[in-house]
Amino acid sequence: MPSQNSQSLEKMSKTDTIKLRNRYIGKSCKLFYKSDPLKIVRGQGQYMFDEEGTRYLDCINNVAHVGHCHPKVVEAASKQIAVLSTNNRFLHDELVHCAEKIINKMPGDLSVCYFVNSGSEANDLALRLARAFTKKLDVITLDHAYHGHLTSLMEISPYKFNLPGADPKPDHVHVASCPDDYRGKFNRFNSSSDMIKDQYIAEIESIAKKVTEEGRGIAGFIAESLQSCGGQIIPPEGYFEDVYRVVRKYGGVAIADEVQVGFGRVGTHYWAFETQNVVPDIVTIAKPMGNGHPVGAVVTTQKIADSFAATGVSYFNTYGGNPVSCAIANAVMDVVENEKLQQNAQIVGEYLLSEGIKMGYDFEMIGDVRGYGLFVGFEIVKSKSCRTPATQEAQWIVDRMKSVHRVLISSDGPNENVLKLKPPMVFTKENAEEFFVAFNECMHFLQKVNLSSLTEDVSNELPTRTDLLIKAM
Ligand SMILES: Cc1ncc(COP(=O)(O)O)c(C=O)c1O
Repeated sequence: MPSQNSQSLEKMSKTDTIKLRNRYIGKSCKLFYKSDPLKIVRGQGQYMFDEEGTRYLDCINNVAHVGHCHPKVVEAASKQIAVLSTNNRFLHDELVHCAEKIINKMPGDLSVCYFVNSGSEANDLALRLARAFTKKLDVITLDHAYHGHLTSLMEISPYKFNLPGADPKPDHVHVASCPDDYRGKFNRFNSSSDMIKDQYIAEIESIAKKVTEEGRGIAGFIAESLQSCGGQIIPPEGYFEDVYRVVRKYGGVAIADEVQVGFGRVGTHYWAFETQNVVPDIVTIAKPMGNGHPVGAVVTTQKIADSFAATGVSYFNTYGGNPVSCAIANAVMDVVENEKLQQNAQIVGEYLLSEGIKMGYDFEMIGDVRGYGLFVGFEIVKSKSCRTPATQEAQWIVDRMKSVHRVLISSDGPNENVLKLKPPMVFTKENAEEFFVAFNECMHFLQKVNLSSLTEDVSNELPTRTDLLIKAM
């Protein structure tokens, strides 16, 4: 039965919503869960609720960083929007406080902030800064990377430009292998562990050298500190230290895309690049910064900012840095601090990883378990020995986790066989246990059956989520 609360929130039937969406929204805007999309009408903490009041455990939404509709964030947003929302050409305290808070969390010479509205805008501006500073155009990016939907970013996102039908990679973009030690070009199966990092670095050095010898030069290297769309990739220790050294040697700047992984998600540090003991020249931040509200920023050094100013072209962004966005970002950062959410990410993340690794021993189809804080991936394969990506099975798990267990996860990576977890930072150990009960059931079931023989009827006969939770208690 639909709950009263959800009925009052949402009047239109799901079927009608689908009809209107199909009629008015571009077909390239994809939904999660193709065959049975979710209509979500409410969020609270680490939970989402559909139009019938069914509760889902949210393991996907790193954007709802401090939890869906956190009261402090809601309060900051409503207070500020009731007073003023305007552009950043007027002085405003929320903006300067926000910049100060961000800079206080940044290491080294990272001391200048620009406000934008999204991760894409942040990365586009980062490219402009790098190009203004170096007077070069060429960029090195990593295979499988995604940096945003603007034209400038589709060009540096192999995750997109390698798709059939996409515009091809332009000549000024150079793709280096993703430092994935499980499935990457150099991995723990074809290289000794002390060689893997150096092989990836040698590739970057050879790209930088070639581009320089051709007289073009490198403007910069851009990478997520932990690659997300690539399948929750944790680069080898010391990787970024060496990449940055090489890139700088050839005159380029280092851009860290922290759009997915910033603001304490990795637990041990506030920024994921800090896990590699490096200081980038430019850092881009967004998604978690607004807890669902569109706000982002670019942080750089005074030297780079000065070279951008020296072009004489002023930077204006109508909504970037408006008082409402900044009030929200300030509230998000305060909540991370006051509720010790970074520490929570470390504790719960360690539990997720260690239990996940243990679970991996039990199942032939869990090829690899990796993660950092509340950023964890399970690579699903046909068997540990062949490592063939089990794409269909991973998709089946994602669907079953939702429909039977009411747990939302996603799959990604070049073969879409990596189950991704990046839940709101209020995710608890009990939530992790709930995830494992559900995931275990899916894996046991998969182990027993041939996926192609699965029908709706068969899955309906399986134990319900409540049965499984009771059994596990
Ligand atoms: C790593 C990374 N960078 C940039 C972006 C673009 O951010 P936005 O969608 O806010 O434009 C995304 C979006 O998914 C992302 O994952």
